[in-house]
Amino acid sequence: MNNNQYTGLGFRKDFAEDLITSEVLKPSFIEMAPENWIGMGGYWKKQLDKAAEKFPITCHGLSLSIGSPDELDVEFVKQVKKFLKQYNVKIYSEHLSYSKCDNAHLYDLLPIPFRKDAVKHIVERIKTVQDILEQPLVLENVSYYTPVAAEMKEHEFISAIVNESGCNMLLDINNVYVNSFNHKYDTKEFLHKLPLDKVAYIHMAGHEQVSDTLIIDTHGQAVIDPVFELFEYAIDLVKPVPVLLERDFNIPELSELQGELTRMDNIISKKWQNKHVAA
Ligand SMILES: [Fe+2]
Repeated sequence: MNNNQYTGLGFRKDFAEDLITSEVLKPSFIEMAPENWIGMGGYWKKQLDKAAEKFPITCHGLSLSIGSPDELDVEFVKQVKKFLKQYNVKIYSEHLSYSKCDNAHLYDLLPIPFRKDAVKHIVERIKTVQDILEQPLVLENVSYYTPVAAEMKEHEFISAIVNESGCNMLLDINNVYVNSFNHKYDTKEFLHKLPLDKVAYIHMAGHEQVSDTLIIDTHGQAVIDPVFELFEYAIDLVKPVPVLLERDFNIPELSELQGELTRMDNIISKKWQNKHVAA
């Protein structure tokens, strides 16, 4: 990965061609959901290979469903491993949530109850995944709107999982902001309680405030100033790692996306100068 630039962008079919050929947009890496590309042939396989020639790749999965009560899909994890090897992917991240129950894909990332029995269950599953992959899983703090049957705090839950499983953490700055707004806690205090020495990857994104008391994590808007400010505060607390701008909807002009990447790079260069990026 380029030592002067840490910021990447999601590789999406909507603007795959633009991303590969653009003179305007210059991410230092691209992120993709492996399940959207595994087994792909024809035109899209060619686009994927072209992108892989031009950019390092990180993976951010959608369907591992690490918190699910269902059996872990071992065959799926083996397919992911093959994909990671084929494209020399060092970071495979997923959500600390679940999206599958009774063998049905729920097409949403549902919050896991912050409970000791859930920690035990998930730690076992993470270890199985890591044994197959032969690399640490990187798990993301997700946004959630209602805590379900909680018996511990969110930061205690995340820390227990990370420390007991040996996985790494994907710190999503926007999710910290969104959750702290919706559940009324202090962003900085919360950050300090996370296992920051295990942060291996960072996400930045936009959101939508729908009322005085509710923000929805949409990835469909530009990143707002307070999230940039929290980013600046947070990156002082962690080692240099790749930083991804998530933009899934309302894709603006590419120059606008590049503007957000440049703004993140400028903050990073103030904080991480002379330090070495981890991936
Ligand atoms: Fe994220």
